[in-house]
Amino acid sequence: MRIAQILFSQGFGNRRVCAGLLQLGLVRVGGRVVEDPHEDFDPVGLEFEVDGRAWTYHAQALLMLHKPAGYECSQKPRHHPSILSLLPVPLRTRGVQPVGRLDEDTTGLLLLTDDGALIHRLTSPKHHVPKVYEVGCKHPVDDAQLARLRAGVVLEDDPKPVRAAAAERTGENSLSLTLTEGKYHQVKRMVAAVGNRVETLHRSRFGQLALPAELAPGEWAWTELSALG
Ligand code: URA
Repeated sequence: MRIAQILFSQGFGNRRVCAGLLQLGLVRVGGRVVEDPHEDFDPVGLEFEVDGRAWTYHAQALLMLHKPAGYECSQKPRHHPSILSLLPVPLRTRGVQPVGRLDEDTTGLLLLTDDGALIHRLTSPKHHVPKVYEVGCKHPVDDAQLARLRAGVVLEDDPKPVRAAAAERTGENSLSLTLTEGKYHQVKRMVAAVGNRVETLHRSRFGQLALPAELAPGEWAWTELSALG
């Protein structure tokens, strides 16, 4: 694949911009400056540098972000900056989108991809991808609340009860909840339905993928589909 095409596919701008990056000597492969836009490389796993920053070719982007509080998942945020502002420009240019949404005040693991079919697959209720939330509550968490969360609670917009695949107490006022759907404000509404109130909400897992301890709030990293299980 031509280097100009590789840069274009990875979100470095239109063809003219990519040709400009090459012409200015800003692109290196294996430490060597590549200026010829027609030079061919095998893109699979290709490591290159643009303006001193290291990149690896990914045919499709899949990344995890440690979402901090105070960011909206919407592309057109209304009250807070968008989570997309935490990503480098090439990833935004490639059109990565969050896989589902977390509320503005929710923290933790958010996946993003530019693969629309994958977003559909991972968010479809049919696929039952388990997501784990660590919930801080206003009132003490008791066994009756946990039992009701597991048995299923009715939310106001749907007569069909929604149940937690798992609900465990993790402290006096905290619990861990595993959900396989992703309804609007689902954790907050389920916890409210059993008479408690969410004060803090953090997603620690998406499928088999756990938020890595070394990924600080606001940081992102590449991941693989196989990591989700
Ligand atoms: N459930 C919620 O209520 N909020 C989130 O951000 C995610 C799940």
